[in-house]
Amino acid sequence: MTTVGVIGLGYVGLPLAVAFAQEGCDVIAVDVDSRKIEALAAGESYIEDVSSEQLAQVAERMHATTRYARLAKADAVLICVPTPLTRNREPDLGPLIDATRALAEVLQADQLVVLESTTYPGTTRERVAPLLEESGLAAGRDFHLAFSPERVDPGRTDFTLRNTPKVLGGLTDACAERAHELYSLVCDELVRVSSPEAAELTKLLENIFRSVNIALVNELAMLTDRMGIDIWEVVDAAATKPYGFMRFEPGPGMGGHCLPVDPFYLSWRAREFDMATEFIELAGKVNQQMPYHCVMKVERALNDIGLAVKGARIAILGVSYKPGVGDVRESPALKIITLLRALGAELRYHDPHVPALPDYDLQSAPLAEVLRDADLALIVTAHPGVDHELAGESARVVLDLRGVTRGAARGNTVRL
Ligand SMILES: NC(=O)c1ccc[n+]([C@@H]2O[C@H](COP(=O)([O-])OP(=O)(O)OC[C@H]3O[C@@H](n4cnc5c(N)ncnc54)[C@H](O)[C@@H]3O)[C@@H](O)[C@H]2O)c1
Repeated sequence: MTTVGVIGLGYVGLPLAVAFAQEGCDVIAVDVDSRKIEALAAGESYIEDVSSEQLAQVAERMHATTRYARLAKADAVLICVPTPLTRNREPDLGPLIDATRALAEVLQADQLVVLESTTYPGTTRERVAPLLEESGLAAGRDFHLAFSPERVDPGRTDFTLRNTPKVLGGLTDACAERAHELYSLVCDELVRVSSPEAAELTKLLENIFRSVNIALVNELAMLTDRMGIDIWEVVDAAATKPYGFMRFEPGPGMGGHCLPVDPFYLSWRAREFDMATEFIELAGKVNQQMPYHCVMKVERALNDIGLAVKGARIAILGVSYKPGVGDVRESPALKIITLLRALGAELRYHDPHVPALPDYDLQSAPLAEVLRDADLALIVTAHPGVDHELAGESARVVLDLRGVTRGAARGNTVRL
């Protein structure tokens, strides 16, 4: 039986750990956050994609701990720690370096180590391998090392770890072979590339592709606003082309741990090669502008009914960064809240996935309550199951940043 270690039990690591346990593996699940370990010991999931029932089913095989020493028993160890940016928007490999150093202390000959965290090309070979080699074991000879990016899309049920092809690149062929064997337990299709660097860049290409295309449609949304053309109508029409076009939705900006962060790992690395990655920078700039554009639209919508933002009662619907999840990391809603507060708006919000925003001193309230007496309802994230029609019936004016009110012809609704 295979024993799999997973380091970092967040959105990526926990579902992965559960998937291996479901396939009958013994899983040693390590995190530095003792609250997560306590929750898992109590059988409570803190990630939407993993239910507490699923945890209960694998409880016997999942050993959650803060102690790295237990990883010495694993055949393979998967590293899924965060890779954020510093305040200066440079890669912050702090968590990865900490995790790798701690793993090096317990590393065993013949183990397989796979990095799953998104990062710039060269990280596995230049940063992870040397730290692991402080154990006295040589990468590619005494232990196996590979990179395999996670493609999980939180909240998504049609594409899962099982049916989403998984890319992997090993330091040597033997490393790739070992990683291939391991992932075959949980994933139907594996895509082997020739090196960890190719696998690292594959993940970044996927995310940059999204970021650039979202920026493109967002820039057009700002233009069509001035031109008096409905961007949603244009996107719907363009999407009827059966080839050569891929639909991207305009919106209030990019959020989540990935898209606003990962592309800058590559632009940072590119500077070492005397290259400025202009698409990445431009996309970041356009997407960062979106919350400001949305606040300007709030000002105009209120102006049209004779109100200023100062003192206006604004009901925000949806504060997480995307529908169906409770993740507020980098959510454009947070920027919008800050900007509207600075203008003196009276804010309340409804989000079934986010009970409270402690940093903003706000709590989610029932939909009918937040809409009562609202001057403006602002749809920032359209969660499934939320009755957006009610916004049009209750608030004086609705500003829809996600296009969900298309088709409902109400005089008091404006869209991005
Ligand atoms: N969230 C996504 O949708 C997604 C998708 C694909 C790739 N990724 C990438 O996967 C990586 C992890 O992302 P996430 O969303 O799961 O992050 P997360 O913040 O949800 O989880 C990371 C976990 O690692 C733990 N951790 C931090 N330092 C540690 C250490 N030294 N030792 C042990 N545990 C440690 C944290 O406590 C946390 O529980 C990132 O590189 C991210 O870019 C994320």
